[in-house]
Amino acid sequence: MAIERTFSIVKPDATRRNLTGAVCAKLEEAGLRIVAQKRIQMTRENAETFYAVHKERPFFGELVDFMISGPVVVQVLEGENAILKNREVMGATNPADADEGTIRKEFAESIEANSVHGSDSPENAAIEIAYFFSGSEIVG
Ligand code: CMP
Repeated sequence: MAIERTFSIVKPDATRRNLTGAVCAKLEEAGLRIVAQKRIQMTRENAETFYAVHKERPFFGELVDFMISGPVVVQVLEGENAILKNREVMGATNPADADEGTIRKEFAESIEANSVHGSDSPENAAIEIAYFFSGSEIVG
């Protein structure tokens, strides 16, 4: 199995409730290594660019407002099969559908305030990592 990198966000609902460490513990327990991390306040332009794929969705405006409502922690995670592994430990987008033991089941407040984001493909992982991190900030 190849070592992959994926991009992760600890969202404002989780930073607001001081759950950054609890989320990171879940990621590390799943075998993922946090090889880059920083706490930032996204600008509206950041959020609109990052979520541009959802621009036509009815929830786009609310999603952007939510993502700039407080600080986020952006991360690069590394490990075997990291993209799928991270999606498994995150759980379903809607916490009502998430499996027991997943981050969203334990911590998410709603489908919007769902505590974490994770890349859905190798292509998007590369794009998302490059949007927030330079190569020298990633130390595996
Ligand atoms: P994320 O994995 O960050 O990717 C897009 C986000 O849009 C998703 O998590 C949810 O937080 C949000 N989202 C998806 N569907 C809905 C919805 N129906 N209503 C509000 N937000 C949504």
